[in-house]
Amino acid sequence: MKMVNKLVIVLGLCLLGLNLVNLAAVPKRLRINEEEEMHPVFAQKTMRSSMRLNPEEAEQDYWLEASKKHILEKLSYVRNTNKAKNIILFLGDGMGLATLAAARNLLGGEEMKLSFEEFPYTGLSKTYSVDKIVPDSACTSTSYLCGVKANYGTIGVNAHVKRGDCLAMANETNHVYSLGKWAMDKGKAAGLVTTTRVTHASPSGVYAHTADREWENNAVLEEACPGELGENLNDIAVQLIHGEVGSKLKVMLGGGKRSFYAPEFYDKGRRTDGRNLVEEFEALDEGNVFVKTQKKLLNVNATETGRLLGLFSKSHLHYHLEQLADEENNEPTLEEMTQKAIEVLQTEEQGYFLFVEGGKIDISHHDTMARIALDETVELSKAVKLARAMTSVEDTLIVVTSDHSHTFSLSGYQPRHSDIFSEAESKGTDGKPYLPLSYANGLSFDSFYNTEGHQRYDPLAQRTGEFDEIFPAMAPLLSETHGGEDVGVFASGPWAHLFTGVYEQNSIPHMMAYAACVGDGQTACD
Ligand SMILES: *[C@@H]1O[C@H](CO)[C@@H](O)[C@H](O)[C@H]1NC(C)=O
Ligand SMILES: *[C@@H]1O[C@H](CO)[C@@H](O)[C@H](O)[C@H]1NC(C)=O
Ligand SMILES: [Zn+2]
Repeated sequence: MKMVNKLVIVLGLCLLGLNLVNLAAVPKRLRINEEEEMHPVFAQKTMRSSMRLNPEEAEQDYWLEASKKHILEKLSYVRNTNKAKNIILFLGDGMGLATLAAARNLLGGEEMKLSFEEFPYTGLSKTYSVDKIVPDSACTSTSYLCGVKANYGTIGVNAHVKRGDCLAMANETNHVYSLGKWAMDKGKAAGLVTTTRVTHASPSGVYAHTADREWENNAVLEEACPGELGENLNDIAVQLIHGEVGSKLKVMLGGGKRSFYAPEFYDKGRRTDGRNLVEEFEALDEGNVFVKTQKKLLNVNATETGRLLGLFSKSHLHYHLEQLADEENNEPTLEEMTQKAIEVLQTEEQGYFLFVEGGKIDISHHDTMARIALDETVELSKAVKLARAMTSVEDTLIVVTSDHSHTFSLSGYQPRHSDIFSEAESKGTDGKPYLPLSYANGLSFDSFYNTEGHQRYDPLAQRTGEFDEIFPAMAPLLSETHGGEDVGVFASGPWAHLFTGVYEQNSIPHMMAYAACVGDGQTACD
């Protein structure tokens, strides 16, 4: 009875043009001066709730016709065996398959597709590292960028280097090089874009060799490798500005100012060697351009720019939803950085390699903030869409993947087009509701489970409707962990058909190199 009453009320309100979901989901710090630019949580809700279920779904012909169309579309594909002039690798950090399925709800419903889900070829990538079943973002970046699996926590080195082994890191025969270098060795340009620190694990795979992902500046490196041991080693920020690969990158955009400055140049700087790496970058060449705000980035004239370094925050960039809610925001979106990077790289006659990371999907999942993780996924989708629109499928291969999954799960039997952040349709055996979105572990355990009373709290009591609300975890951990199942790979452009099947993650850069005729392996030009 109760359910039916509720349904009638909801239907009635919908007919009146009201929207229950909108009323419930008031995000905090909402800007009030905009009429058309709605907060995305609002906008997404409006889109979804105003989208009626398609009545044709009740007819079998609808499904039969849709399948026919799908087969015809598949049959129409012509294998694109052009040489790829440009290659772009998008990485959704921590973007597992459950994240993709849940994110479609934000686009309007389960039948919607993220931009890269429209790509013609998909595969599955196995993400384990040499030493662990479930990997981190460091060893996986060595895998999908340098083409070699390695140990947890290490970047740009082979598995002879254990995490934290200063001596093994110093031995250059252990260094492995990225697709970025392979491309530059053949005369192409290379660049990277990230919403995290440019010295964070994923982007570092483009240019760095380090036994520990934490060694982003000299202070942490010298503490871990004291004395002479550390003197021959470079921290990740120094490797970006002066390293063999980093010093040639044409575009570097993201966050992480703190590892580039000693405090005398930037009060939050963490370097203890008195250096100002940004000034060193600017001094290297007249054409080098440094920007630190969204405004300055948007005003960069691509044809007048030699190399472009953009550092837009102390550490990672803020979540997209935080940026929107902050009137003072002067950080670019992932889409804006991607656009500028492609504009600058497109000035290169011989083409380019670009790495773009949506890095905060992972970070919000670690905090069990599912609403943010899904929004960051949509942000990545927007950047991919723009990149596909700015380039031609004839000469530009775009690959979208993830480094690893999370313990994030989408469950319950909610009615179609439901608010995915609200409760599941049925109740638990304890008589309390449960949420369709949850995690196998994480800090939120204590907010959802009353350990002393040996029972769950009502999860609806934890719902704030704000964008940073947390979702339940089954085991108490300070930080929710990664997940070990395969992640998707989505490809469009020259040789995209290579990316089908189930394969090791480290095959990805080799297949991209094949398409672009770079690297030491077999290529499409042989
Ligand atoms: C460097 O590493 C290689 C391969 O792991 C090893 O054979 C060699 O002895 C090492 N060199 C030094 C100086 O440790
Ligand atoms: C960028 O610079 C070039 C070369 O100086 C100039 O021709 C062009 O008009 C500039 N574009 C914009 C949008 O200012
Ligand atoms: Zn992570």
